[in-house]
Amino acid sequence: MNVLGNLYPWLKAGHVIFVIFWMAGLFMMPRFFVYHQESEPGSNEARQWIEREAKLRGIILTPSLILTWVLGIFTASAIGAWDQGWLHAKLLFVLLLSGYHGWLVSYAKKLAKGQRPLSGKTLRLLNEVPGVAAVIIVILVVVEPF
Ligand code: HEM
Repeated sequence: MNVLGNLYPWLKAGHVIFVIFWMAGLFMMPRFFVYHQESEPGSNEARQWIEREAKLRGIILTPSLILTWVLGIFTASAIGAWDQGWLHAKLLFVLLLSGYHGWLVSYAKKLAKGQRPLSGKTLRLLNEVPGVAAVIIVILVVVEPF
């Protein structure tokens, strides 16, 4: 506990760094989808989008999701925050963001198979989810309203 306590500023710095990377990936992926949707299944352009989406997922999204969670859990343990209301509420929205991440992965697989289940307009609307969740999460963690 004491070791964790001493590491707290570093754990929090690492946490915020990977939060930024994760959010960047969550914002980029649906933008990729909007352009990917407009390409002909099986075309060269579609193949390029599949490759870009796989890279974004493998290099940015998945490692950042894992490190945000791991460093967030260590940060919470370092300051003994597990019984605080703001953290419970925050975790609810982080779970929502993690679910959104899972949906992005499954939608990329559908696009790669040549399916186009949603319209570009719906994708643009869904693109707002991570922004709204980030606003609520940052207010909860900084203001600690309860
Ligand atoms: C994955 C589970 C997560 C856990 C367990 C967690 C936990 C924590 C804890 C305990 C702190 C330190 C708070 C303090 O020093 O008072 C913190 C800081 C922070 N977290 Fe998270 N977090 C998680 C995910 C996220 C996500 C997804 C975001 C943004 C979208 C985020 C944004 C931040 C920010 C901006 C800070 C710095 C706040 C400050 O310096 O006052 N966290 N987090």
